[in-house]
Amino acid sequence: MMDIRFQAGGPQAWKADAALLFVCSGEDPLKASPALLEAAPWLGISPGLRDFRGDENEITVLYGHPDLNIPRVILVGLGESGKAGVDKVREAAALAARHCRKLRLTSMLLPFECFAGLSGGAARLVEESVYGALISLYRYTALKSADEKGKPDPLWLALGFTESSVPDIAHAAARRGERAARSMAMARGLAITPSNIMTPGAMAEQAVDAARRHGLKCKVHDMAELAEMGCNALLAVGQGSKNEPKMIVLEYAPKGHEEDKPIVLIGKGVTFDSGGISIKPPTDMHQMKGDMTGAAVVLSVMTAVADEDIPRRVVAIMPCAENMPGGGAFKPGDVVKSFSGKTVEIMNTDAEGRMLLCDALAYAQKKYSCAGIVDIATLTGACMVALGREIGGLFSDDEDLSGRIRAIGQTVGEPFWPLPLWSPYRKALKSEVADISHMGPREGGAINAAIFLKEFVNEGTRWAHLDIAGTDWATKDTPLCVSGPTGFGVRTLIDLVRAGL
Ligand code: BES
Ligand code: ZN
Ligand code: ZN
Repeated sequence: MMDIRFQAGGPQAWKADAALLFVCSGEDPLKASPALLEAAPWLGISPGLRDFRGDENEITVLYGHPDLNIPRVILVGLGESGKAGVDKVREAAALAARHCRKLRLTSMLLPFECFAGLSGGAARLVEESVYGALISLYRYTALKSADEKGKPDPLWLALGFTESSVPDIAHAAARRGERAARSMAMARGLAITPSNIMTPGAMAEQAVDAARRHGLKCKVHDMAELAEMGCNALLAVGQGSKNEPKMIVLEYAPKGHEEDKPIVLIGKGVTFDSGGISIKPPTDMHQMKGDMTGAAVVLSVMTAVADEDIPRRVVAIMPCAENMPGGGAFKPGDVVKSFSGKTVEIMNTDAEGRMLLCDALAYAQKKYSCAGIVDIATLTGACMVALGREIGGLFSDDEDLSGRIRAIGQTVGEPFWPLPLWSPYRKALKSEVADISHMGPREGGAINAAIFLKEFVNEGTRWAHLDIAGTDWATKDTPLCVSGPTGFGVRTLIDLVRAGL
């Protein structure tokens, strides 16, 4: 990933292969950053300026003499100034960074003063542009040979300041953007890694490794421990695969906060969802390697939280299993006794995510006095049908928590929309043989799944459930994400933890 640098001391000191300038439609680019005109006086007479209009996502490269400190300026249009806020800036930075890579440039500079005329606040705009530039370059090349890896990334992005030193808020904001991008890239990397590599055991290794690098506590419960504990719902999902299930628990407890009530994040970690005995149709089945995105997100969020030294205790729980139709697989009609003690009848083995999650929820509340729980899961196709691929489903009876998740999601480009925990649908989860059936009718499928989970949340526990089926996977390339896993949820959860519950 590119380095983030800072160039203070005024425009005379700025130096990079290209300066970036974000310009609203109808605005004079020369006025967007007067200091840039000092750093690159040739800009004032550059003929290409005449044709630049500042339309949304318009890109123009202007050239000065190659020996100059700033030999190029890349103008990116933000569209109408009234609408140009954090979303547009994030995307503009992404487009610019991609363009720099296309041109094989090594470095770019963004004048801090260009944010003054935009809405959203300078700190947030810095964070989003750093984030956008970094994440736009993310691609998964681990399994490609050297000549297939594509053009090299630029090496660094600098923020340019007219002051003699870097203002603290800009520095902190840039570092936040950088950590968010690293965390996001990590989540995408975990989600895109094929399931023959990213097994539950490999997820555990990733967590142990991340814990060592970022100073977290990590405990991996293996199959024997899970059996002893009675996590039979999780075990049921994994029993059709030769890759054993694991429950990974990460804890971040900074000094002085060891005894705090933790914020608990739970992520669905189905490393491959074939559907099991209720096997899925083959179309797009490969995308089900991404059915551990919830777990990938919470693991990645923990690394960012630790790197930022956020003064809060946070626990992440990642129940991981591979849902396969092997000889030992769980079957429709089976009944298991979940960790909570409730017996659960399995109706369709493809509704496996809620099995993992119900044990993780019960485990969290038994082990910790939770300040609140947020679970995140690629849980139901129904949620994707209801909200499409750009909006996540949000379920919570806690209006304050749900309002905060929505507001944060909106700011960071991860919109969530509330769906109801409609209690009358609980009766459809009645089972003839067990305490509860894990599945209701097809209609309202996302709600039924959430209602099932709610059965495992104690009265008085603050809880939100995020259904990211659909938003977890992009079907086409955008400036911020190539097609494939999106890591949707990473940014919202980092900011939620920072804000506190
Ligand atoms: N992992 C899937 C949900 C999913 C679908 C995620 C599409 C991402 C994209 C989940 O385990 C599943 O298969 N759910 C079933 C539940 C049904 C059997 C009640 C579904 O949504 O069809
Ligand atoms: Zn499934
Ligand atoms: Zn699934």
